[in-house]
Amino acid sequence: MTSFQEEILAGIPQDRIPEPKPYDRTINHAPKRKDILTDEEKALALKNALRYFPAKFHATLAPEFAKELKDYGRIYMYRFRPSYEIFARPIDEYPCRCKQAAAIMAMIQNNLDPRVAQHPHELIIYGGNGAIFQNWAQYRLTMQYLATMTEEQTLAMYSGLPLGLFPSHQDAPRVVVTNGMVIPNYSKQDDWEKFNALGVSQYGQMTAGSYMYIGPQGIVHGTTITVMNAARKQLKSKGIAGTRENMKGMLFVSAGLGGMSGAQPKAGNIAGVVSVIAEINPLAARKRYDQGWVDELHDNLDELLQRIRKAVSGKETVSLAYVGNVVDLWERLAEEHIHVDIGTDQTSLHNPWAGGYYPAGLTLEESKNMMAAEPEKFREAVQASLRRQVAAINKLTADGMYFFDYGNAFLLESSRAGADIMADGHFRYPSYVQDIMGPLYFDYGFGPFRWVCMSEDPADLAKSDELAIKVLAEEARTAPEEIQGQLRDNIHWIEEAGKNNLVVGSQARILYADCEGRTKIAMAFNEAIRSGKIKAPIVLGRDHHDVSGTDSPFRETSNIYDGSQFTADMAIQNVIGDSFRGATWVSIHNGGGVGWGEVINGGFGMVIDGSDDSARHIKEMLFWDVNNGIARRSWARNEGAAHAISREMERTPGLKVTLPNHADDSLVRDALKGI
Ligand SMILES: NC(=O)c1ccc[n+]([C@@H]2O[C@H](COP(=O)([O-])OP(=O)(O)OC[C@H]3O[C@@H](n4cnc5c(N)ncnc54)[C@H](O)[C@@H]3O)[C@@H](O)[C@H]2O)c1
Repeated sequence: MTSFQEEILAGIPQDRIPEPKPYDRTINHAPKRKDILTDEEKALALKNALRYFPAKFHATLAPEFAKELKDYGRIYMYRFRPSYEIFARPIDEYPCRCKQAAAIMAMIQNNLDPRVAQHPHELIIYGGNGAIFQNWAQYRLTMQYLATMTEEQTLAMYSGLPLGLFPSHQDAPRVVVTNGMVIPNYSKQDDWEKFNALGVSQYGQMTAGSYMYIGPQGIVHGTTITVMNAARKQLKSKGIAGTRENMKGMLFVSAGLGGMSGAQPKAGNIAGVVSVIAEINPLAARKRYDQGWVDELHDNLDELLQRIRKAVSGKETVSLAYVGNVVDLWERLAEEHIHVDIGTDQTSLHNPWAGGYYPAGLTLEESKNMMAAEPEKFREAVQASLRRQVAAINKLTADGMYFFDYGNAFLLESSRAGADIMADGHFRYPSYVQDIMGPLYFDYGFGPFRWVCMSEDPADLAKSDELAIKVLAEEARTAPEEIQGQLRDNIHWIEEAGKNNLVVGSQARILYADCEGRTKIAMAFNEAIRSGKIKAPIVLGRDHHDVSGTDSPFRETSNIYDGSQFTADMAIQNVIGDSFRGATWVSIHNGGGVGWGEVINGGFGMVIDGSDDSARHIKEMLFWDVNNGIARRSWARNEGAAHAISREMERTPGLKVTLPNHADDSLVRDALKGI
């Protein structure tokens, strides 16, 4: 047995605790969280933390954990970080009694890989607070359970806490994850701060807490599609054809080079435009630069503006990072009347008061200190900064920029800050789902389809890419006009994916496909595993940016107009349905993208191993996973969805979906007159 395997099997050491670990200043750490607990609650947090360990260690650990709570606002249990390196290993290297559990261990370790995770030592994967576990004891215990579980057990995960292994059966999920589930009236931002500080709940974002994060590639794809379609929209409004050639020389401006937002410059390059992305944290900017995801770093606005003018006039394909505050960038662009074609923002505004957004006028360090020491003053600084940012953006949109909200609660928080963002009771600007992803993608069942090769061999990934292209090209031959463009964009994406070095961490890929595409690609993979053309199992999954799994009124379901966008039945139904149709693990989260209390989203992971069982799970589960959302969108009277579900009912005899009848608007208005 390797020492890696031994350490996993040891779980939380019972005889001797590891030596304390020095605080590593070379990596990116989570900001100090605000001091929100009363003295009594602090005692409770400490007792909660100590319950993971035998009483004989409490005298050593209690003062140490108390200090962590004081210094960082959380108890991470740094001492218990494992001594081995964390990254996704080939599946055979994990100690296990069932391969499904080994695959989940690899997915967990990929999330926590320092190349992938945003704040790896605080177990934060992306978005500033998207956690996979609350502390290192939970990590150790979970890995130990997974290493020892059989196919007749299910592990229950409560916001990072492995509650235990419970007897179940082979077809049941191996793991059921819930994150941040609270009584609805206790779902405010400060409730999260408090529950998380107490060690009883966490914000799992979505792919962080459901072990499905594949680094920024996951979002490069969605961002590429969004930037290309935003560019097409802009060109169309000027009567110009939306070809890639015509996109050259267009200027795209945004903020954020973090976990997700780091994908923006890469996507800009794939679309062939000039992108300028502001990032206030030099470490985050440098990480993306070193990875080759952004071409140039600039910290001088005068020089940057000159560089922008040159890039635009030369129609270069180039991505420029501004290492500074995005508000300064927007104001300068507006002052100098630079023509910006496409604008958006991807700071972590779902988490505005605890490090998601850094206000103008303060350095990064000043902000970090103020948010912990003077939270009210910090809140005012954020809101003032948002008002300035919106004012500059408004000037540029008046000059012809197309601006959209990029799913980070920018419009929502700006409106709460009193910025000039409303017109006629609505936001001045659309969300990218309302304008682009909803009508073109989600309503037709197109959504993220991810896979990770458990051999961790790039040759398997290349083989799977080939299979995916073949399936999509085949589908495109007979597909209706409405989805031809979506299929073409995705075939182009996969053809380019290998060349663009998109893999960070495990050998993973993503594309967008509808139910037919997802199912046929998965079946082709299963066949290739069965015949040995692909060496090891593959994990299938997705993110929240999809037709079914997510109820998010300011993002994924922002193009639902029957009033049901604030309900969350779809996400819950999605996960329950997936769990008895063959998912290897399922997860449901409060928050994810837009913020705690603002969204519910469900996810799944499925290990396929070339078996007949895998083939059955693929067919049954993917069908439900996609079509339950199309049915809901069709009921909400979305045209594309009505088209897609009718097509599906023709193909699938067992499917009977309730369809809406359409009422005449004038008849409805007349009926209400005089009442
Ligand atoms: N569009 C999508 O498809 C999509 C998908 C997932 C998440 N999101 C949302 O996008 C947001 C960003 O996600 P992420 O994972 O990149 O988060 P992140 O926290 O890793 O990155 C955000 C970055 O913005 C920087 N930043 C904050 N304020 C700034 C300012 N004023 N000026 C310049 N830089 C600033 C931060 O330093 C940070 O590096 C989140 O709200 C997330 O929920 C969008």
